[in-house]
Amino acid sequence: MSDPKIIVALDYADAVSALNLVARLDPALCRLKVGKELFTVAGPQLVEQLMRRGFDIFLDLKFHDIPTTVAQACKAAAALGVWMTNVHALGGRKMMEAARAAVADHPAPPKLIAVTVLTSMTQQDLAELGIHTAPADLVLHLATLAHASGLDGVVCSAQEAAVLRLHCGPEFCLVTPGIRPQNTATDDQARVMTPQAALRQGANYLVIGRPITQAADPLQALQTIIEQAAVGAGV
Ligand code: C5P
Repeated sequence: MSDPKIIVALDYADAVSALNLVARLDPALCRLKVGKELFTVAGPQLVEQLMRRGFDIFLDLKFHDIPTTVAQACKAAAALGVWMTNVHALGGRKMMEAARAAVADHPAPPKLIAVTVLTSMTQQDLAELGIHTAPADLVLHLATLAHASGLDGVVCSAQEAAVLRLHCGPEFCLVTPGIRPQNTATDDQARVMTPQAALRQGANYLVIGRPITQAADPLQALQTIIEQAAVGAGV
């Protein structure tokens, strides 16, 4: 079975724009990420439409609520048939364990991963919340908690991947955004890594948006990234 490593971020404000891009991609070469903006405007119908076109979907809604509510949301995501979904590790062990249990009895459960510390948060932002741990230490702490709570992996920056791989083991799934192929614009990403380097650091899947979605030929851009990274589409 093919296991494309690249997840294209569908950061669009409406279904038509998203579908226009998707018509120019190939499900054998990539998966798709649907986040809060697109899901809020286009809902599960769009997710179903994308799945009918053969794409695996990462439903990036970062659930964070009391355990029962998050468990029910994860159950709904499993019933929708998405390939991956996520929760905030800051929701705590009970919340993550409830989420895990809620998808476990589904015949094809989605991969369930956690967000640790949002990369937009600085040490100062954390201190303002009463959290006096360095961001990198908090990332490791929360990833370890996610692992212990039975989650399949975390979203992390490629810079964190090697340390998390070391602590959470070879099976733990590391999904990294902030990826930029050689010689492309960094946009608003402060710290970027090439696809090849991110995979070398231990990333399993790479979330890539604008280098593909804004390219004149998105499929060609995707193919070039796959070749550069020597990912191999179906391996
Ligand atoms: O266009 P670009 O490749 O920067 O898009 C990256 C995607 O990954 C966006 O959907 C963005 O919200 C998401 N993301 C990120 N950094 C994180 C977490 C998610 O860029 N730390």
